[in-house]
Amino acid sequence: MNVADSELVETILEQEGFQATQNMESADAIFVNTCAIREHAEDKIHSRLGMYYKVKKNRPEVIIGVLGCMAQNLKDDLLESKPYIDVILGPDSYRKLPEIMSRNTKQNGHVVDTKLSRFEVYDDLFPSRKEGVNAWVSIMRGCDKFCTFCIVPFTRGRERSRSIESVKNEVVNAVAKGFVEVTLLGQNVNSYKHNNHNFHYLLEGIASIPRLKRIRYTSPHPQDITCDLLKVMADNPVICNSVHLPLQAGSNRILKRMNRTYSKEHFIGLAHEIRELLPGGGISTDIIVGFPGESEEDFQETLEVMERVQFDSAFTFKYSPRPYTKAEQYSGQVPEDIKQERLQRVIELQKTHTLDQNRKLIGTVEMVLVEKVSKKDPDFWAGRTDSNKWVIFPKENAKIKDIIPVSIADAKGISLHGEILTTSEVFV
Ligand code: 5AD
Ligand code: SF4
Repeated sequence: MNVADSELVETILEQEGFQATQNMESADAIFVNTCAIREHAEDKIHSRLGMYYKVKKNRPEVIIGVLGCMAQNLKDDLLESKPYIDVILGPDSYRKLPEIMSRNTKQNGHVVDTKLSRFEVYDDLFPSRKEGVNAWVSIMRGCDKFCTFCIVPFTRGRERSRSIESVKNEVVNAVAKGFVEVTLLGQNVNSYKHNNHNFHYLLEGIASIPRLKRIRYTSPHPQDITCDLLKVMADNPVICNSVHLPLQAGSNRILKRMNRTYSKEHFIGLAHEIRELLPGGGISTDIIVGFPGESEEDFQETLEVMERVQFDSAFTFKYSPRPYTKAEQYSGQVPEDIKQERLQRVIELQKTHTLDQNRKLIGTVEMVLVEKVSKKDPDFWAGRTDSNKWVIFPKENAKIKDIIPVSIADAKGISLHGEILTTSEVFV
């Protein structure tokens, strides 16, 4: 989401005649777009701001700006501890940038705007995108779910969606620029609602856009995954058969304390339904360990759900107490060493599941979108399957943005390895 938001900021600044530079030393302004989801994300920004301070000491006229969720969350702290920051803008205030850039911040002091809007979706602004394979397209902003661990409803505000027409125009535009895949984005993407049209209707509309090769979306909430959505995915080959299904925890007691609004049984049923309706698809998840009050028995239930579902991949986190959230006030905060130990166990188990799931594909042929050169070997491509697994294979005649059949020969770590099948082999 922050990549997409940064592209939006770039558009706004380009419209004012500014140009992006990769060279911090020559920049007139440095903006950092921030995340507040866990404390670790904020720590990274604090150390980055230290680097910007050095630039500012040499060239006091440089404008330093903190944008996004951390600006929203920590504006007072930042102003107090880092007075060299000139601009602090929350995620709904990017339209302020032109006015700010035309002002002399030295004369006017700090500019701070962290007001949240009920309406701002930047509908009229298409992000500035360079050449690429995948375009991130934001379709809704904010979140009304209020999971008790999560700061997002406080930093990004209430849910609001863009119009179908505007999202479609943006996708058509991206395809015209050469993008072949889009990832529809939202904090709670399947809560999308505009003029009584919901997420699956939007998805179906996007699927009919000519020359678009693949559609992905993230992140959905399990509660809003409907039969209609799974049916639209099954019926439209252009929509990738991969679902991100954030579990968070496996014990009903903890799920309730998290305000996740589903039970372990419902979640497992949903995962099975997805596997049935989207054969060959992938399911990924998010898991938090060490939520306040999580006992060893509760944690065992998380491992049990993992065993039952066999996720293809997982993002795993230690619970991080966040300001404004209910869970921060909960009793039973779990000690750091126990969180660390549980995290390790979750990671180890997931590694075995990822490998088991990937090994099932050995000997099959997967359609892979060629996305980039492999980091390990310049003679190999890296691309993803429809089910969102990375595959590494010798380049041969394939080009970036092609979708090609790859015969899967091996599974190592989190990726698959294979070779491109020639057309004659495909049809034998
Ligand atoms: N601590 C740890 N992980 C968190 N997430 C959100 N808030 C927290 C928190 N306070 C994780 C959730 C969510 C993902 C984007 O980040 O798993 O799905
Ligand atoms: Fe945070 Fe996602 Fe829950 Fe919204 S649905 S509060 S973004 S974890």
